[in-house]
Amino acid sequence: MYFGNVFYIAEKDNQYHYQYYFLMYVKMNKKLYIESYGCQMNFSDSEIVVSLLTKEGYEPVSDFQNADLILLNTCSIREKAEQTVRNRLLHFHPLKRRNPELLIGMLGCMAERLKTKLLEEEKIVDIVVGPDAYRTLPSLIKEASEGNKSINTLLSREETYSDIEPVRLGSNGVTAFISIMRGCDNMCSFCVVPFTRGRERSRDPDSIIQEAKKLFINGYREVTLLGQNVDSYKWEPEITDMQTNDGSAQVNFTHLLEMVAQIHPLLRVRFSTSHPKDITNEVLHTMRRYENICKHIHLPVQSGSSRILNLMNRTYNREWYLERIASIKHILGDACGISSDMITGFCSETEAEHGETLSLMDIVKYDFSYMFYYSERPNTLAARKYADDIPLDIKKRRLQEIIQKQNEISLEQNKKEIGKTEKVLVEGTSKKSEEYLQGRTSANKVVVFPKKQFIKGEYVDVLIKSCTTATLLGESV
Ligand code: SAH
Ligand code: SF4
Ligand code: F3S
Repeated sequence: MYFGNVFYIAEKDNQYHYQYYFLMYVKMNKKLYIESYGCQMNFSDSEIVVSLLTKEGYEPVSDFQNADLILLNTCSIREKAEQTVRNRLLHFHPLKRRNPELLIGMLGCMAERLKTKLLEEEKIVDIVVGPDAYRTLPSLIKEASEGNKSINTLLSREETYSDIEPVRLGSNGVTAFISIMRGCDNMCSFCVVPFTRGRERSRDPDSIIQEAKKLFINGYREVTLLGQNVDSYKWEPEITDMQTNDGSAQVNFTHLLEMVAQIHPLLRVRFSTSHPKDITNEVLHTMRRYENICKHIHLPVQSGSSRILNLMNRTYNREWYLERIASIKHILGDACGISSDMITGFCSETEAEHGETLSLMDIVKYDFSYMFYYSERPNTLAARKYADDIPLDIKKRRLQEIIQKQNEISLEQNKKEIGKTEKVLVEGTSKKSEEYLQGRTSANKVVVFPKKQFIKGEYVDVLIKSCTTATLLGESV
C-alpha cells in the first residue's frame, strides 16, 4: 500500500526527489528475521550480526512472514541440532515463491562445517557465512541479491568483534552475556567446535570492561563472561619499541574477572565454561574475595571413567576432576553451585564405565547438568579413530539413567535450601503467574516468590520455603 502511494507521487511530482525518498524508505525498512540455535556464544554472535546489519538499514522483526532477510545462526554440536536447522530451512524455503526478493542465509557453525553444500548442492540457502566472517555480511547480501553465490567461511586468528556493540535481543534488561574469547584450542575427540570456530583468541580487556560498564549504566545487574574455555583467557598488550615486557601487563582470566567485579558491587558476574584441566585455585580465591562474583561453576566432566576421559582427549582423569571439586568445596564451601555436561555411550563405553559416571555424580552432587548421548561428528578425532559402537538403545537407556540420577540429586540439593534466606536478583515475572517474580541466587538456582512491591533488577532477600527439582519457592523477608 505504502509503496504504491509513494510511487504514485513519484510519477506525478518531482520524480527524482520522491524516488530518492522511496529508496530511503526501503533501505530504512528492510526487515531482518534472525533465529539462533546452539550455545550462548551463538546467541551473542546474533546480537553482533544484528548490530552490523542495523547500520545497513535493517530492522530486526519477530515475525518471519514479511521479512526481507531470514538468517539462521546454526549449531553443529550433535546431528540432531543440524537436523533441526535443516528442517527449519526447508520450512522457510517455500516463502521465496511468494516473495522472490527474500534472501535466506545460514550463519554459524553449520555454515562453517558444510560450506557450499546447502548453497550449491541442495540450494536451500542464498548466503553462507562462518562465525568469523560476519563483517562481510553486507557485501554478501548484495552479491546474493544480484543472484550470485554468496559465501564466506574464512576463519580468523584475530577476529573478536571487540569494537561492535551488540544489539541485545530478547533481553530482560537485567542479565546479559559478554563474549570474552572465541574459538577453542582443545581437541576433545568428540567435539566439532575447534573445526567450526577455529583457533582460540582472547578479546581486548578494555572493550570487555567498557561493554560491562555500559550495561550497568543501562540498568543491567548481571553479566556472564562467555568462552568455550574461559580459564585460558589471555591478553598480551602489543609491545612498542620503547617498552620491555616483563609479563606484568598480561591479563589472565583471574585479572579479568577481578576487573569486571570491581565495576560495581551491584553488578553480578558469572562465567562459562570452565575446563577441569585449567581452572585454577587463583580463580577460586578471587571468587571468594568478591561477593558479586556468583558462586557457581559450570565444570563439565563428560564422563566419570578415566579410560573414557582419555579416549575423549579431555586431558584429565577422574582423580584430577575430583581433586578440583574438592578444591572448590574447600575454598568456596558447599554454597557454591556446581553444574556439568555429560555424554553417555561414547565409543567403547562399558556398563561398568557408565556406572563410574553415575558414582561420580553421587560424589559431586551437581545442582544441574546438561546430558546427552554421544553423536558422532564427521572428521572429529573420535570419528576418525574409534568405532561409534554403542547401539542407540543402550546410549538412550544410559542417558535416561543419568537424567534420573540428576533429577534425584537436584531435588536433594534444592531441599537443602529450605529454611535459608537467599539474595535473589529479580529477572522478571514468573512464567507461570503475573503475581510472582522470578530470579536467581548467586549459586544459579531459580527462585519464584510473590511479587509485592518488587521490580526486576532489584536484589531481594527471599526465605526459601519449598522446592521442585528445578525451582525454589519462597517469600521475601
Ligand atoms: N566448551 C565446553 C562445551 C561446549 S559443547 C566444554 O568444554 O565443556 C557443549 C556440550 O555438548 C559439551 O560439554 C558436551 O557435553 C556436548 N557435546 C559436544 N560434542 C558432542 C557430541 N559429539 N555428542 C554429544 N554431545 C556432545
Ligand atoms: Fe569442544 Fe572440548 Fe573445546 Fe569444549 S573444550 S569446545 S568440548 S573441544
Ligand atoms: Fe553449537 Fe557452535 Fe556453539 S557447534 S554449541 S553453536 S560453538
